[in-house]
Amino acid sequence: MVFSEAMKNSEIFFGKDIISLDQFNRKSIEFLFQQTIKIKKIFMKKGRHDGRPYRPLDGKIITLLFFEPSTRTFSSNSAAVKRLGGQTIEHQNPMQNSSVVKGETIEDTIMMIEQYSDAVVIRHPQVGTAEKVAKVANIPIINAGDGIGEHPTQALLDMFTIYEKYGYLDNIKGLVVGDLLNGRTVHSLIKGLSIFKNITLYLLSPKQLRLSNKDLEKAKKRKIKLVEIKSFEEIPTDCHFWYWTRVQKERFIDKSEYEKLKLSFILTKKLVDMKAGKNTLLMHPLPRVGEIETAVDSDPRAVYLTTEAKNGMYVRMALFSLILKS
Ligand code: CP
Repeated sequence: MVFSEAMKNSEIFFGKDIISLDQFNRKSIEFLFQQTIKIKKIFMKKGRHDGRPYRPLDGKIITLLFFEPSTRTFSSNSAAVKRLGGQTIEHQNPMQNSSVVKGETIEDTIMMIEQYSDAVVIRHPQVGTAEKVAKVANIPIINAGDGIGEHPTQALLDMFTIYEKYGYLDNIKGLVVGDLLNGRTVHSLIKGLSIFKNITLYLLSPKQLRLSNKDLEKAKKRKIKLVEIKSFEEIPTDCHFWYWTRVQKERFIDKSEYEKLKLSFILTKKLVDMKAGKNTLLMHPLPRVGEIETAVDSDPRAVYLTTEAKNGMYVRMALFSLILKS
């Protein structure tokens, strides 16, 4: 569901599920980013200006239910809840450690969890799972990645990182590289940026991992300009950001095909020196598995290990505070 334009700002997110970037519009993204800036300021100064603690999640419990592995999304959600005064129930690998082992359905698991907590953050290998459980749940469901579908909070933190750097999201030119077919962060990012005006994304991937025709068609309707390129030579030198992604091994049935494609495009210091602009943000949702040379890490434009990852916590803090405000 799209957040309604008619709603007062404070009501835009209250009690809502976060399933897809399809739900968002300009107003809801701008409001979320205002809240993120506010929270980031408070926590970077280690307190509010009046010295009172900021604990909007006091008394709230959020369940993290991760059926796929995670470093950043799991940890940053956990940190976000705790920094805001809330607590978490944490299920990593529920396929082995919960009653799913005994055959419990995902719907039943969610209906149980809602007896104990105020919201659920769920990651699952199957596309559509977050949406499916949101239909049976009476508490907010936040999609932390559904297979090759979407990863909405990652796109929001990526967009916030771009917004924080430039102060706008219209008239943005970006480069997106890697596994565009299976990359859920890319799918959400394209939808998210398409809300803004005059966006051009250059797409570079092995031909087997191009964005699907269905996604290309959808993008056409959204007015975002997608330009498929075939080589580094075609990268324009004035991009606002480069968004590198990993080839998603876990989505390949034929692992020899993965081995063939995994390092098709490597971000090297030499490439950065040749083709990046002086302000181009070097981004990656991570984990990386060889597609970014570690020599790039110390480049001041590289934010994947620092600002981009940290913004994940701040954007999620903002979302929780708005969804669960009491
Ligand atoms: N960006 C991201 O989703 O990373 P994790 O898989 O480590 O959560």
